[in-house]
Amino acid sequence: QDFAGRTAFVTGGANGVGLGIVRGLLNEGVKVAIADIRQDAIDKTLASLDNREVMGVQLDVASREGFKEAADKVEAEFGPVSLLFNNAGINLFQPIEESSYDDWDWVMGVNLGGVINGVMTFAPRMKERALSGEVKGGHITNTASMAAFIAGGSPGIYNTAKFAVRGLSYSLRHSMVDYGIGVSMVCPGLVKSYIYASDDIRPDNLKGDMKPVDTKAVERLAGLHEFGMEPDVIGERILDGIRENRANIFPHPDHKDEVAELFDEVLADYRDYPKDAGYDQRVAFEKMR
Ligand code: NAI
Repeated sequence: QDFAGRTAFVTGGANGVGLGIVRGLLNEGVKVAIADIRQDAIDKTLASLDNREVMGVQLDVASREGFKEAADKVEAEFGPVSLLFNNAGINLFQPIEESSYDDWDWVMGVNLGGVINGVMTFAPRMKERALSGEVKGGHITNTASMAAFIAGGSPGIYNTAKFAVRGLSYSLRHSMVDYGIGVSMVCPGLVKSYIYASDDIRPDNLKGDMKPVDTKAVERLAGLHEFGMEPDVIGERILDGIRENRANIFPHPDHKDEVAELFDEVLADYRDYPKDAGYDQRVAFEKMR
């Protein structure tokens, strides 16, 4: 994937992973739109970047209408988007059975709904432009997490959303390949960010049955994220993965063993049943054609 001269749309681009991506893209000569829910963070980031090739647009990725409006605004100013980064995300770590429907709606709405909205807004535009020859190629990158592979007891809703982002990304990768558009999923481990402060941006209408914010846990998470990867380092690794059109971008080598163990465990769940003579999936699919 070539970068220079393209326009990128980066959700959650005002901090953390997204900001690392933004800086990396600007270094490559890409025009970048930072789409973020926090206007103050957008303003601060734009001031720190001091670059005419970057613009900000306030957006709640959970809003379908908001996404379309933001996309139109950015394309009117910076031209057709051919690099999309569905990166905005929040966290909420608690077991599923202790969660409320508002917890589900909030986390799924942003972490999965935000990715869906980005794809539904931009993928048809990118495909059409590829078919007409107006813009060649392009890439869609969805930030998932190692939590798209490794499930734990407490990040129940987060795991659910990130596993779904994995499914969406793999499927979209198949359907976009014919148009020369790549799709990657990023699975970071720990990154320096303020994702621990997600409660600050939880919408009022989704605060029903919300547990009181556990300030001790937030403090612990803040401390933990201090040990995370630098945003600029992950930004560069993500661009490397896009250049190589990887389905999975794993910026943190530390987790490779865990993934190997997981797939070993999955394979170990296969029992040695004798093959059922009446069942042959390949024959069934052939007949369906
Ligand atoms: P962060 O909180 O530092 O940055 C995320 C940005 O997204 C913030 O600027 C925030 O204002 C914005 N945002 C949140 N909700 C939004 C919404 N509804 N609409 C638009 N913008 C919104 O967090 P971080 O860590 O950079 O997170 C980025 C992505 O990386 C997320 O998808 C997260 O799940 C993922 N991730 C982060 C890890 C970490 O250790 N920080 C580890 C694995 C995955």
